[in-house]
Amino acid sequence: MPTSLPFALVSRPLPDDWLTQLSGQCRMIIGATGLASLPEHFAEAEGMFSLLTDRVDDALLAQMPRLRVVSNMAVGVDNIDLAACTRRQIPVGHTPGVLTESTADVTLALLLSAARRLPEASADAKAGRWTTWSPTGWLGADLTGAKLGIVGMGKIGEAVTARAQGFGVRVIYTSRGAHPTIETRFSAVRVPLETLLRESDFVSLHVPLTAETCGLINESTLRLMKRTAMLVNAARGPVVDTAALYRALREGWIAGAALDVTDPEPLPADHPLYQLPNCFIVPHIGSATWGTRQRMAERAGENLLAGLRGERLPYCVNPEVYP
Ligand code: DGY
Repeated sequence: MPTSLPFALVSRPLPDDWLTQLSGQCRMIIGATGLASLPEHFAEAEGMFSLLTDRVDDALLAQMPRLRVVSNMAVGVDNIDLAACTRRQIPVGHTPGVLTESTADVTLALLLSAARRLPEASADAKAGRWTTWSPTGWLGADLTGAKLGIVGMGKIGEAVTARAQGFGVRVIYTSRGAHPTIETRFSAVRVPLETLLRESDFVSLHVPLTAETCGLINESTLRLMKRTAMLVNAARGPVVDTAALYRALREGWIAGAALDVTDPEPLPADHPLYQLPNCFIVPHIGSATWGTRQRMAERAGENLLAGLRGERLPYCVNPEVYP
């Protein structure tokens, strides 16, 4: 491989066919367990292909004087200190659009699982507790006619709304701005967060993790929710205060929760949340389909190559780095 090619760090091993566009275009070194496992290559690195498990902060950037692009294989970029990248004129890429549908699918799966107590019912069946058909066994909540509150009406929120409509669910939402097309198409209504929490039978979170949304769902906001309501989080764990959620579920302030993301992540196996029968947790699998993850890798590859070539990143989160 010619040494004149630009040099990039890739966080962890990925299937070969996800990175084909990079071969012959740059030299790559692939970490065993993330970028932190490649310290001896920091000084040389011109590009970085990061995952959401890599913390890209000022201290790391300071060790990479030649770095000219950070490409995150995720739509969320809360693992990256954007201000520090921008200060150094380093463009940061992400992967919007390609994971919308798969994340919306998992959101609906979580919602249905919580509403109909599927994980609990399945565990009971396996454990021999299915001894008869009971008229009151494993009773759950109806979706038809229920009200779903979407916190954060972005692309994923819209895809969840479209799916929920098929189940006869009415949608209310919060968003910085109104979405007239979504309102017309799905009869969705924009409301303040407090109204959404008070009125919804299901609350689904779809905001990015920022200083403003960290801890948005906390003791006081959980206490606004109906005692029969369920919370779904397929956004980012720290949007929810974990200790407050635990109390809410245990003490019955709300009826249930279904989480694709947690704080901390991974949630340790001995965490008390796992002991609650009304809490269902999966390990951040919102985008985990073969097709979606490959498209995310390809999009991240496009950003990386553009940055290495000195071109504008096609999916850039800090375009202010460009004149
Ligand atoms: C993302 O891309 O931010 C998702 O959380 C990955 O599943």
